[in-house]
Amino acid sequence: MSAAVSTQKAGRIELDDIAIHLPGKVRFEAVRNITTTIAGGEFVSIIGPSGCGKSTLLNAVAGYLQPSNGRLRVDGEAVSGPGPDRGMVFQHHSLLPWRTALDNVAFGLKMSGVGRRERRERAEEFLQLVGLRGFSDRYPAQLSGGMQQRVEIARVLINNPRVVLMDEPFGALDAQTRERMQQLLLGIWGRLRPTVLFVTHDIDEALVLSDRVLVMTHRPGRIREEIVVDLPRPRPEDISVSPEFIALKKRCLALVQDEVRQSLVGGLEVARIELPVEA
Ligand SMILES: Nc1ncnc2c1ncn2[C@@H]1O[C@H](COP(=O)(O)OP(=O)(O)O)[C@@H](O)[C@H]1O
Ligand SMILES: [Mg+2]
Repeated sequence: MSAAVSTQKAGRIELDDIAIHLPGKVRFEAVRNITTTIAGGEFVSIIGPSGCGKSTLLNAVAGYLQPSNGRLRVDGEAVSGPGPDRGMVFQHHSLLPWRTALDNVAFGLKMSGVGRRERRERAEEFLQLVGLRGFSDRYPAQLSGGMQQRVEIARVLINNPRVVLMDEPFGALDAQTRERMQQLLLGIWGRLRPTVLFVTHDIDEALVLSDRVLVMTHRPGRIREEIVVDLPRPRPEDISVSPEFIALKKRCLALVQDEVRQSLVGGLEVARIELPVEA
C-alpha cells in the first residue's frame, strides 16, 4: 500500500459544554450544553428530530461556525476555523461539474501544491478505494448519484483528514445504493481509521455503522442519551434482524419519537404565543 492510503492516527474530538447560537431576526440557541468526547478512530452517529441542530453541531466541528459557549478541541487544539485535519462530506456532493472525477478528487492536492503526476497517481488510488477505477475521466453529470457520492468521499479522504464529518451523506440515495455505500464506508473506515462523526435520520444506518449513537433532544439540541452499539465487527449482513440490533433500534426509536413529540408540543406553544392578538 502506498503512503497516500495510510493508517490514521488520533482525531480525538472534545466537546465541552458547547452552545451555538445562530443569527437571524431573533438570535436563537440551536444547540446547548453539548459535552462528549469522541475517541480517535471512533465511529459516532448523531440522530435526533429534524431541526434539533445536528448540522449546526457538525458545522461547528468543521470550523464553519463558532460556538457561543464552551470548548471544542481536536487532538487538544482549539478549533478556530476549517482545517485540513477535518473533512466534510455533504449530502449533496460539492463536486465541480466542469471537472472530471479525477480532477475533482485531485483538486485539494493541487491547492496544496502537489505536482501533477503525483496528484494523478494519488487521485487514481482514491478513486480505486471507493470502487471507481476506470471512471476517472467522467464528469459528475455522467455518474449516478451513488458514484457522485463516492467521488465526494474520495475528494475528502485524499487530504488525509483525521476527522471525517458526514452530514446525511447517503440521504438522497435509494435504499439499495445506500446499503452498498454503508458497506463501502465501513470498509474504508476499517482501513484508514479516521474518526467519523456521522449525521443521519436513519436509525438503522446509525446502528449498522457506529460504535456509539448520540441521541439529541429537540431544539435547542442537547445530548439526551449516548447509546453504545456493542455489536460485533465486521457486522454481518443480516445484523439488522438480530435481537441485539432490534433492541437497540427500539431504544433509539422510542427516544427520537419522544423528542419529536415534545418538539411538536413546543412548536404549538410558540405558534400560540406568536399569533396576532385581535383587538
Ligand atoms: N442560518 C440560520 N439562521 C437561523 N436559523 C437557522 C439557520 N440554519 C438553521 N437554522 C435553524 O436552526 C435549527 C437547527 O438547524 P440544523 O442544525 O440544520 O438542524 P438539523 O440538521 O438537526 O435538522 C433549525 O431549527 C433551523 O431551522
Ligand atoms: Mg441537518
